[in-house]
Amino acid sequence: MYSLILTESDRAGVGHTALRTTSEQALARRVRALTEAGVDGEWVHGSFGHGPGYQFRGPDGHLYELYYETKYYDPPDHLRPFLKNQPQKLTGRGVGVKTLDHVNFLSSDAERDGDFVEAVLGLKLTEQIRLDNGKRPGVWYRAMNKSYDVVYTLDATGARGRLHHIAFRVDTNESIWRAADLFVDHGVFIEFAPSKHAINQTYFVYVYEPGGNRIEVCAGGYLVLAPDWQPITWTEAERARGQAWGNKTVESFHHYGTPVV
Ligand SMILES: [Fe+2]
Repeated sequence: MYSLILTESDRAGVGHTALRTTSEQALARRVRALTEAGVDGEWVHGSFGHGPGYQFRGPDGHLYELYYETKYYDPPDHLRPFLKNQPQKLTGRGVGVKTLDHVNFLSSDAERDGDFVEAVLGLKLTEQIRLDNGKRPGVWYRAMNKSYDVVYTLDATGARGRLHHIAFRVDTNESIWRAADLFVDHGVFIEFAPSKHAINQTYFVYVYEPGGNRIEVCAGGYLVLAPDWQPITWTEAERARGQAWGNKTVESFHHYGTPVV
């Protein structure tokens, strides 16, 4: 029914991140896994658009919610599509993003958070950065076949529980460039102009929304179809080569997150 809820707050950041389980039974299994891992949580009722959610915090303090029961969007008659396999008619407005693609959290200990979502949520590691000292400051996880849904990267400020960015998907690079044109037209600050990531091979543009959160419009990536697919590891030297191509990583990318510290 929706991908994002905006709530008024005196500071930017992500309130909670909800993941949908594959069934009621899967939801019960995850709650059991969390309880067995000693993680406190509570059921939340009365959310708009979905049934009961189970809220808990990850190791760094990020608030998660798991839910299954969902209300689907029912478009009004004037937006009912000819193509029945899309939610509504194309309106041609704005960037035309398709889905919420991923959330990238900042963490004071990225690999600890990654290990947590792997152990209790069943997410699978797709790609990672491993430094020469053995530490992993960046880990990319997927719930299903799309190459990543949840990312943890090390917070250089040492702060806890922050957001690096959330990303919305478009189909093509041209849509990313159109997004950049629209951002310029509307006075939205473009932090990192269109280029291509080496990790996960995502095409991107990054901006700050008016509240201060970093938003990415992305395309590309890949699907993981092999059942025995092995995570890709990027060494410190390989990481130092920078993005796949395009602009050099902007300095603010390494420390700016929300809430701002
Ligand atoms: Fe991203």
